Amino acid sequence: MSESTIESILQEKRLFAPPAEFAENAQIKSLEDYRSLYDRAAADPQKFWAELAEQELHWFQKWDTVLDWQPPFAKWFVGGKINISYNCLDRHLTTWRKNKAALIWEGEPGDSRTLTYAQLHREVCQMANVIKELGVKKGDRVGIYMPMIPEAAIAMLACARIGAPHTVIFGGFSAEALKDRLQDAEAKLVITADGGWRKDAIVPLKEQVDKALANNAVPSASNVLVVKRTGQKIQMQPGRDHWWHDLQAGASGDCPAEPMDSEDMLFILYTSGTTGKPKGVVHTTGGYNLYTHVTTKWTFDLKDTDVYWCTADVGWITGHSYIVYGPLSNGATSLMYEGAPRPSNPGCIWDVVEKYGVTIFYTAPTAIRAFIKMGEHLPKARDLSSLRILGTVGEPINPEAWMWYREIIGQQRCPIVDTWWQTETGGFMIAPFPGATPTKPGSATMPFPGILADVVDMEGNPVGDNEGGYLAIKHPWPSMMRTVYNNPDRFRKTYWEPIPPKDGQHFYFAGDGARRDEDGYFWVMGRVDDVINVSGHRLGTMEIESALVSHPAVAEAAVVGKPDDLKGEAIAAFVILENNYSSSEDLEKELKQHVVNEIGALARPADIRFSEDLPKTRSGKIMRRLLRNLAAGQDIAGDTSTLQDRSVLDKLREG
Ligand code: WTA
Repeated sequence: MSESTIESILQEKRLFAPPAEFAENAQIKSLEDYRSLYDRAAADPQKFWAELAEQELHWFQKWDTVLDWQPPFAKWFVGGKINISYNCLDRHLTTWRKNKAALIWEGEPGDSRTLTYAQLHREVCQMANVIKELGVKKGDRVGIYMPMIPEAAIAMLACARIGAPHTVIFGGFSAEALKDRLQDAEAKLVITADGGWRKDAIVPLKEQVDKALANNAVPSASNVLVVKRTGQKIQMQPGRDHWWHDLQAGASGDCPAEPMDSEDMLFILYTSGTTGKPKGVVHTTGGYNLYTHVTTKWTFDLKDTDVYWCTADVGWITGHSYIVYGPLSNGATSLMYEGAPRPSNPGCIWDVVEKYGVTIFYTAPTAIRAFIKMGEHLPKARDLSSLRILGTVGEPINPEAWMWYREIIGQQRCPIVDTWWQTETGGFMIAPFPGATPTKPGSATMPFPGILADVVDMEGNPVGDNEGGYLAIKHPWPSMMRTVYNNPDRFRKTYWEPIPPKDGQHFYFAGDGARRDEDGYFWVMGRVDDVINVSGHRLGTMEIESALVSHPAVAEAAVVGKPDDLKGEAIAAFVILENNYSSSEDLEKELKQHVVNEIGALARPADIRFSEDLPKTRSGKIMRRLLRNLAAGQDIAGDTSTLQDRSVLDKLREG
């Protein structure tokens, strides 16, 4: 976050109470209601979650034990049998929701499609039967590399239905990144599309899959299922590649949901951390189903008449929890959009709101800042009166963007829910209830009932009001990640050891800095580790450094985030070249493209500085803090006495 954003957040004093009429009709109607719910949950979290699990979900068989906690490993609803695809589909078919829109899809260019719960159920069953035919069994992993089309959600639900954990890989990742993830998950099948639309151009998804699988790089992957989307010519490898529409034609629309153990793996989702390789975050079935269900229901004050739109991509956790599983488990109407604002159609977001009468709109601060830049004439020219709740996620929201969102989009009528959470947490951890919690611009407000959040120092001692510290969670919750796929040690080290356990108390370390104010409101300040947040996308600096040094010209690289008005943070790289290379504009371009090839366009460095040396401590550690100052064009702050060679800094500044 930039200095000026931190400054404005520190001075933020405005408070916005929920409108009286909104509160009256809300599920949770007042701050007192929230507090009593919170206190009840905190007094006995297991009882609280067990009651909700009973009320809100269908179980084939009830659990024996609510929580088995062997820190840091948690099991929820042990012995229970459940299927999230059943909860998202089948149970709605015996109600009036059978013919309610489950998914509304607005595609590019101008395509659209609506699937009722009955129709969605049928297609999910068909795809489940097809992937079984292709040899996928319960427990086998399936890679999903798709554009934002209904078949992405259908594929996820089909996997869940037969108990095959999915791993969705964001369609913006390169073939290299796709390969790494498919290899780590040992995916047996890849579901993809010929292509997808992105800002008036085609993203050649199938071609990337071909590259990822070339030379038998992923030996486990014996089949590829291809959805026809863009219709451009692609290569189909006989025996390996199959068109979805061919197989769908002969597939039965009946496929009973497999009763899964509550703790069976539902999916793996790769996310960036402090080391080079992304880690596979593992989520399981029962707890995740419950938590995403309840958070969607209360935080969005969900009503049966809502048209709910989350603008995330299904490749990220937000798409998993709050486009697919949470909304559908509640029987809501969830809107999926393939497009994005572009010069030929800058007002498209507001067109979609108007066209479908969207009532709940959930997006990211970086998108809001882009909307501001495109101009308020765009939303003002559309009818946005259907909106009743606005949400934000992904990074700290600067108060200016929050106020614009409230005034221009929400027309001062819509409560804003700023939701703090992570891939690892599965669902919202800190967020207001729209009818109950007075909001402050830039604060995610207070924890969800059952979430024991705190701001502590590195020894686990709570810090005082308004003192900065580390965000930590002190009790397991149903949708917490269970482990890092195939790497329980990394799970323990990354999340549970940074703040060592104290007197039997364990601390989940979120990797975010935060402060709590005198009213108990949390203000999340951003990452305290080597993770940077570019347009709400999480990237590890080491991941980008590894990509850079894999280029023959690069001897050493250091990557830091620098403040960016639009993206929140942008990527700045410092590069030392091998002896036989010299710096040039062409090489800079080539290196940027190399990172795009290795990871994806989201990781393209904004600038690359060539240098002969990097600031290091006497023990050889790169002092990133100094590089961050340099990249931001700031004066070097703090202590530099441990620096090995001070002249390095002067050279870098001049260069
Ligand atoms: C950041 C996205 C401030 C934070 C759901 C977190 C936020 C990381 C917020 C997780 C928010 C997310 N306010 N910061 N409302 N939401 N973050 O795993 O740094 O892609 O640790 O999950 O995004 O990113 P991830």
